Amino acid sequence: MKFDKKAVIFDLDGVICFTDKFHYQAWKALADRLGIYFDEKINNRLRGVSRMASLEIILERSDKEYSQEEKEAFAEEKNNLYRDLLKNMSPSDLTDEVKDTLIELRRRGYKLSIGSSSKNTKFILGQIGLGDFFDAIADGTDITRSKPDPEVFLVAAKKLGMDPADCAVVEDAKAGIEAAKAGGMTALALFGDAKDCGLEDYDLASFGDLLTIL
Ligand code: BG6
Ligand code: MG
Repeated sequence: MKFDKKAVIFDLDGVICFTDKFHYQAWKALADRLGIYFDEKINNRLRGVSRMASLEIILERSDKEYSQEEKEAFAEEKNNLYRDLLKNMSPSDLTDEVKDTLIELRRRGYKLSIGSSSKNTKFILGQIGLGDFFDAIADGTDITRSKPDPEVFLVAAKKLGMDPADCAVVEDAKAGIEAAKAGGMTALALFGDAKDCGLEDYDLASFGDLLTIL
């Protein structure tokens, strides 16, 4: 199958790099401190959704009620743990497969953007050596509604000057696939959760598989 698109919008965490593991570790440390059960399966529900929405999902397992102030402190605590893990990232955390595929897509004339709910997007891109690479970045600082709302992808398309119908989105999260479809874009699923949701247009065998369909 081939898709006739002009632009590709990439999710960041779990697609361009494996920061999804660090999100898990940081949330797990917070949940353990609060005595709340948390595992990889619950973590999959956090993919693509905002920091505060992620916290609310974790607190579903708590028998205590927390004030808004306490919740904000928890979110900040998690973000500090997460940022400590990000500090150790370097360009060696960008795989050759992702790097080579991005360079080849650009050579083929595609406009390339990030569409991520994360407010740490620009920091992470800098860490892995992609600070200046993308034609546009839409992230958690540009939006008021996180995935599954299409806002972040619509902002990315707008920044690229593209019609949503000309954009393909690459996602590892069910919420991200839903957001891409709600935005009128083609949804390409990479990895389990996105592939299992049944709403995607295509299942990618690997990141490099983009070169066979675009
Ligand atoms: C998404 C992640 O990319 O960003 C979510 O998949 C995360 O798990 C969200 O909650 C917000 O990230 P941050 O870095 O702003 O806390
Ligand atoms: Mg993701």
